[in-house]
Amino acid sequence: MADKSLTLDQFRTLRKDHWWVEPLMVVAVLGGFGIYATWAALQNANYYSAPYLSPFYSPCVSANCSHVTLPLIGSWWNLSPAFLILWVPGGFRATCYYYRKAYYRSFFQSPPACAVRDAAKSYSGETRFPFLLQNIHRYFFYLSLLILAFLWWDFLLAFRFPDGFGMGVGTIVLGINAALLSLFSFSCNSCRHVCGGYLNSFHSAPGKYKTWTFISGLNEKHMEYAWVSLVWVGLTDVYVRLLASGVIYDVRFF
Ligand code: FES
Repeated sequence: MADKSLTLDQFRTLRKDHWWVEPLMVVAVLGGFGIYATWAALQNANYYSAPYLSPFYSPCVSANCSHVTLPLIGSWWNLSPAFLILWVPGGFRATCYYYRKAYYRSFFQSPPACAVRDAAKSYSGETRFPFLLQNIHRYFFYLSLLILAFLWWDFLLAFRFPDGFGMGVGTIVLGINAALLSLFSFSCNSCRHVCGGYLNSFHSAPGKYKTWTFISGLNEKHMEYAWVSLVWVGLTDVYVRLLASGVIYDVRFF
């Protein structure tokens, strides 16, 4: 029998620390990013300011793009080209092992924190639709590598200004974005598995052992890379958007 003198909070947990701060921050940052990314994707404008392309629209694969990367889709596509590619990084993050922990805790309260009772009465794990789809994380990882290659390409193009070779603040912004997303992608658990996690013994595969050890080192910081790359990719879109709409001007170094 539960002690009737307990408050609701005490009923859920005996923890006395501020355990609710972390889930609350996840709701704020992840929720805020989701709202901003949806808004930015719906705009279908101000995503290119020569020579910078927003990562939310890269690669731009519709013939209607302001800056076409690859014209894979004809001009019949009249929705935002962001929708053609955003499902890849979106799916990659949504099925990420770390983000799953973060949003199960904060959005579903399942459980909200260690030693805090679940909000739901029953628990079915990831055995039913749509959570069954979490199993395709490794395929999102492969697809994300493709997107990543285009983001590095965008970084190289960010040196090619209409008046010739140069470098501006935007070049650095796009470079940092590609680097942070690389750290996030290569520290992924699926990447670690692909690099040697499936072996029973490293004895006959010293090269795989070295790669696996390196990726394991990156993997320890996966949570940090997840947050920093998320915030930076959003800021990169903001930067290109403000340039394209004429609110700010890019500073050129040369
Ligand atoms: S991206 Fe986080 S585990 Fe793969």
